[in-house]
Amino acid sequence: MAEVVLQGFGWRHAGRRAWAVRGLDLHIQRGERVLLLGPSGAGKSTLLAALAGLLPEDSGESEGTVTVDGRDPRDRDRAGLLFQDPQTQLVMARSGDDVAFGLENRGVPAGEIWPRVSDALDRVGFPYPITRQTHALSGGEAQRLALAGILALQPGLLLLDEPTANLDPAGGDLIRAAVARSCDRDTTLIVVEHRVEQASPLVDRVVVLAPGGGVAADGAPEVVFAGHGPALAEQGVWVPGYPLPPHRAVAPPADPLVRTEHVSVGHRLPPTDLDVRAGEVLAVTGPNGAGKSTLALVLGGLLAPTSGRMSAFGDPKPPHRWRAATLTQRIGSVFQSPEHQFVTGRVADELAVGPRRLGRPAAEVTAIVAELLERLRLTALARANPYTLSGGEARRLSVATALATRPRLLVLDEPTFGQDRRTWIGLVELLAQLRDDGHGIVAVTHDDAFVTALADRVHDLAPTSAEPLPRRRPDRRPA
Ligand SMILES: Nc1ncnc2c1ncn2[C@@H]1O[C@H](COP(=O)(O)OP(=O)(O)OP(=O)(O)O)[C@@H](O)[C@H]1O
Ligand SMILES: [Mg+2]
Repeated sequence: MAEVVLQGFGWRHAGRRAWAVRGLDLHIQRGERVLLLGPSGAGKSTLLAALAGLLPEDSGESEGTVTVDGRDPRDRDRAGLLFQDPQTQLVMARSGDDVAFGLENRGVPAGEIWPRVSDALDRVGFPYPITRQTHALSGGEAQRLALAGILALQPGLLLLDEPTANLDPAGGDLIRAAVARSCDRDTTLIVVEHRVEQASPLVDRVVVLAPGGGVAADGAPEVVFAGHGPALAEQGVWVPGYPLPPHRAVAPPADPLVRTEHVSVGHRLPPTDLDVRAGEVLAVTGPNGAGKSTLALVLGGLLAPTSGRMSAFGDPKPPHRWRAATLTQRIGSVFQSPEHQFVTGRVADELAVGPRRLGRPAAEVTAIVAELLERLRLTALARANPYTLSGGEARRLSVATALATRPRLLVLDEPTFGQDRRTWIGLVELLAQLRDDGHGIVAVTHDDAFVTALADRVHDLAPTSAEPLPRRRPDRRPA
């Protein structure tokens, strides 16, 4: 069990003028379960990193104090931190070895390792033997394994940073059930999760970070949301029960931009028949492992189908055969993990790359960049390095780069992931406007609110098989 005390705590990342968190006074008792909320960029992940001892002194400037059980969190391994992307957290080929790895690293005696591995796997309800290959796990299973790796360390302080953001609803339920089961009274829990409704049952206290520093609200969930509901929703918190504006198309869709006939990719995508029309938002849904991201890569011209026929933009050649410049002009893609997509050292430069490549005049490039920065709430970050953005900021930047060339067709893989209520509304309004201007939009999504507010049509992909396949990187990137 661990007790957390913050007194006037602040942290400013090296190279940033603004403080990521500031003026935080917080006392979390042993065994408490806290949901940490706040707008995108409010400093939630930074705070968890501080509590996990993952902010080295030379990586920024600090203010005030932070202690876990009275000590600097960098001094002791009291915390275990789970991130949102399961794939980046597994290191070993076999599941059991992955859990054992962390124990070996911390110098746990050999005789204790395997009993602790099997206990941790039991606690998360891992359904396979320890020899199971990690690459053959679905997203939800991989995340449960990563959680087991952390529980095996028996952390007094369990920190979860949007642990279900990458999962389908069923996978998210499995993780929450595993957390509820394994968080006994000996564990202090702090979980960051934008979608309040899903996380609330896990916690007994909600702490909302204010964008300018300090705490905006703190207390039992019912009390916080009853007392501060409208103000918090305005700040970007997903307060349960606050409706979202719908953005359905007013005009009927135009002609298909892309048509697939029985297009498939090995075992990754079953034969798929699909039209994507101008002036329409098509949502592609389905469980983890169903082939949604593969379909997005195919529609984006970044992956060749292995069978079937595909036609697009009246071109005799299918999109994956087009020249890079043609592809950029016609189709803009956003991948599932934005980190793989950034190519420059500054947010504003990142947005300028596409329009410059298409030979747009400098003044027009500047105007495009400024407008996108503003609409996606990134203006203050124009000079920041894309690789240092928060999760939600990085996602908005990757969507913005795809919009910058104003391609007729947009293929977006989980466009709204990691967004707070306010940035979410901004993003949805922007996409609605593009759709109404005659662009076609395909969005792979687990986000029900997005489907309800914006989708004109839904294509649901059934799972390919019980055995999800390892993910592959795109065969080629947009130029
Ligand atoms: N390594 C870093 N270097 C520089 N700045 C950073 C770094 N990590 C985060 N930041 C900045 O610090 C601020 C807080 O980021 P943080 O990741 O803590 O936010 P967050 O509340 O978790 O947001 P989100 O909900 O979008 O994940 C943001 O402005 C972000 O751009
Ligand atoms: Mg974060």
